Amino acid sequence: MFQNVKYYPGDPILSLVDKYNVDPNPKKVNLGVGVYYDNEGHLPILECVKTVEKQLAKQNLPYSYLPMDGLAGYRQACQNLLFGPEHEVVQCGRIATVASLGSSGALRVGAEFIHQWFPQAEVYVSNPTWGNHISIFEGANCTVKKYPYYDPETHGIKIDELKEFLLQLKAGNIILLHPCCHNPTGIDPTTSEWDDILTIIKERELIPFMDFAYQGLGEDLTADAYAIRKAVDLGLCVFISNSFSKNMSLYGERVGALSVVCPTADEAKIVHSQLKFIIRRFYSSPSRHGNYIVDNVLNNPDLFRQWEKEVTEMRDRIRAMRIRLHNVLQTRIPERDFSYFTKQRGMFSFTGLSPQQVARLQSEFSIYMVENSRMCMAGLNTSNIDYVAQSMAEVLK
Ligand code: LMR
Repeated sequence: MFQNVKYYPGDPILSLVDKYNVDPNPKKVNLGVGVYYDNEGHLPILECVKTVEKQLAKQNLPYSYLPMDGLAGYRQACQNLLFGPEHEVVQCGRIATVASLGSSGALRVGAEFIHQWFPQAEVYVSNPTWGNHISIFEGANCTVKKYPYYDPETHGIKIDELKEFLLQLKAGNIILLHPCCHNPTGIDPTTSEWDDILTIIKERELIPFMDFAYQGLGEDLTADAYAIRKAVDLGLCVFISNSFSKNMSLYGERVGALSVVCPTADEAKIVHSQLKFIIRRFYSSPSRHGNYIVDNVLNNPDLFRQWEKEVTEMRDRIRAMRIRLHNVLQTRIPERDFSYFTKQRGMFSFTGLSPQQVARLQSEFSIYMVENSRMCMAGLNTSNIDYVAQSMAEVLK
């Protein structure tokens, strides 16, 4: 009966975790999946989350269903975080926000909405992008194409090519953007480059879809939202997927949201109703626990401050690892310029290694990174960084 079903060989990022887990080498290092580990190599439970967990345990709430769109306080907190509570779009009710299963879930719900209501729209993703972006939109029957982005020669952005490309796109197409901490390259536009990109998007009447999975891990919680706020200030309608997997270390709780900024509050109400309908048909309603944790952290000023401090610590630790990796490699191979490691931001780094060098790191040194040379800097710590840097120098020689 199932002979015609094709075997799914697995996801290139998530399969690495399986391989890493069964590797018996005690020196093994996991730099594949985008997960933040602390300097002891542990997945942290943030203090702000521990505090809320204790409060929730005392309340002993029953396991009722959440509404289809999630907890109201959670959804409001997401809007406040994206725009600041005083922002006009928040105050006027022009945003339709629904809770989602991580940012992936928000992308999928958004993709479904786009396919249903903008069936002619093509979706443009950066070259390269997170591989699952393509799968998610294709899975919703959208046509996916690529726009120029990363320049391997300069380790920067092909900004002129990108702008020219956007200028010739048809109105109504979707442009998937990474507002901060570009996955997989770690290379973000500057604020003035964002201004140019978004101005063209506005002129060409394109629709930005901002995948915002790393707020706080680039510059800070506010600066990282620059592109989103700028787009809205320019009068654009925007789709935004956001997530608390990384910045609140809530990976398996699958806590994210989809927000659609609409021209009017009335349109936001209609869009919101359709997003709920999609959710009802997909999985009915989100799971409770993550919504409650984030609601309690973000809506309590003391816990919010505590969270901000913990996000800063994560960001600073990743930066310190970047600097140290750069220094070791630069000393070992002085003729090569490794400064890109310190210019990239967020969890990821395009290392510039060839697929053969990535494979050697895995087979000879048990160091796991994605085949496209993406490395998760947040898997480095003071105990493994010298081993990683020396091994990288070895394969680069
Ligand atoms: C990543 O890019 O590694 C993360 O976003 C995790 C994932 O699901 O791929």
